[in-house]
Amino acid sequence: MKGVCYMGKLAITGGSKLRAKGFPVWPVYGKEEADGLQRVLESRQWGTLGPEVKKFTEKFNKYLGVKYGVAVTNGTVTMEVLLRAMGIGYGDEVLVPPYTFVATVSAVITVGATPVFVDIDEETFNMDPEKMEVAITPATKAVIPVHIGGRSCDMDKIMAVAKKHNLMVIEDAAHAHGSEWKGQKSGSVGTAGSFSFQASKNLNSGEGGFISTNDKELFEMSWGIHHCGRDYSGTVWYGHPLVGTNARMTEWQAVILNAQLDRMDQQIDKRMENAKYLTSRLNEIGCIKTVPEDDRITRNSYHLYLFRYMEEQLKGLPREKFLKALGAEGIPVSPGYTCLYKMPLFQTEQMKKMTGSKIDYTKVYLDVAEKVTEHQGVWTTQNVLLGEKEDMDDFANAIIKVVENVDEIL
Ligand SMILES: Cc1ncc(COP(=O)(O)O)c(C=O)c1O
Repeated sequence: MKGVCYMGKLAITGGSKLRAKGFPVWPVYGKEEADGLQRVLESRQWGTLGPEVKKFTEKFNKYLGVKYGVAVTNGTVTMEVLLRAMGIGYGDEVLVPPYTFVATVSAVITVGATPVFVDIDEETFNMDPEKMEVAITPATKAVIPVHIGGRSCDMDKIMAVAKKHNLMVIEDAAHAHGSEWKGQKSGSVGTAGSFSFQASKNLNSGEGGFISTNDKELFEMSWGIHHCGRDYSGTVWYGHPLVGTNARMTEWQAVILNAQLDRMDQQIDKRMENAKYLTSRLNEIGCIKTVPEDDRITRNSYHLYLFRYMEEQLKGLPREKFLKALGAEGIPVSPGYTCLYKMPLFQTEQMKKMTGSKIDYTKVYLDVAEKVTEHQGVWTTQNVLLGEKEDMDDFANAIIKVVENVDEIL
């Protein structure tokens, strides 16, 4: 009919938006951060192993329950420093998941080692320990399990396989500050932990990173590498026994982290409470599969709240259309990571030159990772879970609205 345009119930077809207001903003800050920044300013010591870095290192070590820590520039360099400190480089292989931020893999390449992908578990989005052994060769030296969204990987199984094959375990805990596996903090279970304090993270100083370990030798090597290759126990300022880099954290970052860490546990409690309720609401919806509960996950930071969308349960509506309709209702959702081995970086001369890798990454196919990245994976970010119960209801009700009116967008 000429001149008549279709108005549906869904916001995307011209109906009213279910939620007009936003979700809580991130980061949260207060007087502690403001006073701390002023204090650092006036101290005139703005960098190079200052008192705020020392304080944060001791505080975060204690929080994690580890003996040693090194505060560094970001959560990419953490893994580069650790791999170098472990003596891993050209000719070595490191197991990585394909469902993570690029840094988990680029750190391996930067030190000259070859990333070998291990598929993920479809229910948890984490590396599937059952699939590790087929990827292990005599060149495999380490594994980097990533606690996606803050939910710990199955560390019992990962540590058992690692022990059997003599592999180092670097927990990429960039999402998992304060998360736990059977009461033990993420980043304290493996050989070492790697944290990021980049702006989106649950512990945030704009940029920043942290290495945690109980291994004295690994700590001293990491400390030396992060401090221009200096000797941990040495007194000679211009004595450089190691090939290092400058990865030191500034006082500005540390003073913010000291204040942010004091708020973190309360925020985790809130996210866990909201996640539990949101999960109970989403479990009522046929096309949504939530991540199952597991008693061994004693604490979850919920950096991301992940779930799966099953298009076959919603008349074949593709995920992209589903997410667009939800976005129009005022619900912030993302399809999440893309499959890492498909990134163009793997086809570059740079990559081949740095690692000498013979792997043809165009031939890699890991079916769960492909399914999750191409069709099923959905996430929302941690700030959403800092809202109230009514905000969780809006989230669930928006999905129900899309489900009930799906014919409008088919
Ligand atoms: C899983 C994971 N690992 C590592 C990193 C890298 O951290 P950064 O941004 O601090 O270098 C990130 C950051 O987004 C991440 O999400």
